[in-house]
Amino acid sequence: MLLTKSCSFSVSSSFLRRENVGLSRPCSSLKYSNGLIHAVKYPQRKDGGVGGVVLASKEANNRPVLDVVFEPFEEVKKDLLLVPTVPQASLARHKYTGQCETAINEQINVEYSVSYVYHAMYAYFDRDNVALKGCAKFFKDSSVEERQHAEKLMEYQNKRGGKVQLQSILLPLSEFDHAEKGDALYAMELALSLEKLNNEKLLNLHKMANEVNDVHLLDFIESEFLTEQVESIEKLSQYVSQLRRVGTGHGVWHFDQMLSHDLLAA
Ligand SMILES: [Fe+2]
Ligand SMILES: [Fe+2]
Repeated sequence: MLLTKSCSFSVSSSFLRRENVGLSRPCSSLKYSNGLIHAVKYPQRKDGGVGGVVLASKEANNRPVLDVVFEPFEEVKKDLLLVPTVPQASLARHKYTGQCETAINEQINVEYSVSYVYHAMYAYFDRDNVALKGCAKFFKDSSVEERQHAEKLMEYQNKRGGKVQLQSILLPLSEFDHAEKGDALYAMELALSLEKLNNEKLLNLHKMANEVNDVHLLDFIESEFLTEQVESIEKLSQYVSQLRRVGTGHGVWHFDQMLSHDLLAA
């Protein structure tokens, strides 16, 4: 809707007929509490009614403001016809393309898939014959976090009037031991790759939202996902570097202790 002069308006004289406002004689002034309307003049008309001019300004300068440019009931007519009447259609949906709706559903699937892999890693490191409790907790927390990301996207989909459509998730690995790298380093490298892949998917989503000029979706991705994603990549890169230093034996146990301590302190 177009609004070019927010504090200017006029009142039709028919609304100010003496009978309508219950006046026995023309009124010459009116003060309005918000301080913007300072005077109303009702000149006597030949037919006995009163004409009206509302003055609106910070200073009572007696200058009539007549240039109405915002006609809400006219401008809204088109939108009124577009309000859906079928119960299956969202009433809230506004400027939200099918392309964005599909892309959000795809990103939900990405977040769930990563969450599923992290959950499998948690189950592996929690085994009695592996027993790296710090790694187990780290991947359990990471799995929950990715699921929360999926849920955040689901809430957003509903907020914009789209429909959440969940898709299949691929079966994750259940063994994470690696002949040369060992299990902790292998799992952290895999997690780092997954976070980079997730970042790429988010950037693709951002690019698409930019192409269709969905400013709200752009703001949502930037404020809720991108910073956190970059921080995750940095943290996992540090863990991979540390695990590369410590080798596959005793050092991994120390790394796991450090991880447990950090997670407890967080
Ligand atoms: Fe995520
Ligand atoms: Fe993540």
